[in-house]
Amino acid sequence: MNSQSRFNLSVSVNGTTWSGEVPIEETLLEFLRNRIHFTGTKRSCESAVCGACTVLVDNHTVSSCNYLAFEANGKFVLTIEGVARGDKLDPLQEAFIRNIGAQCGYCTPGQIMAAKGLLLENPNPTREQIAEWLSGNICRCGAYGAIAQSILEAAQAQSHPKG
Ligand code: FES
Ligand code: FES
Repeated sequence: MNSQSRFNLSVSVNGTTWSGEVPIEETLLEFLRNRIHFTGTKRSCESAVCGACTVLVDNHTVSSCNYLAFEANGKFVLTIEGVARGDKLDPLQEAFIRNIGAQCGYCTPGQIMAAKGLLLENPNPTREQIAEWLSGNICRCGAYGAIAQSILEAAQAQSHPKG
């Protein structure tokens, strides 16, 4: 591979900067899973259809299978591994646990990252807005009701934080 096909990438992933060369054709999904071993982000369709690989880039949701790593240069990537603050789970994670919003769990990282993106844009979504926003996140287990309920509860918890 010649030097023109590589890119000198510097990207923040969950607050830690990673710098180094990557092939220009390497997707963000490949970068996260194979290069820096953050395997919480899941691979499924690899066609920007299922939402399993959803992460946030500068607070916007992207399908990391359809986003090249070099496009994230100079940006902040948030993955499921960076959602909790130490031992303190994110309200979305707490609500998913409470409502059994994860069955097999394969879609769950993508659902939670998509939901985080939604709550950043709209802190108090309706159930209909949640359904519309998550229409690109497929759950083969059909946990949609519990997922929507979890997002509603997380929005409520964020609006009225305890103590
Ligand atoms: S693996 Fe990226 S959208 Fe399905
Ligand atoms: S919980 Fe199994 S695919 Fe969604």
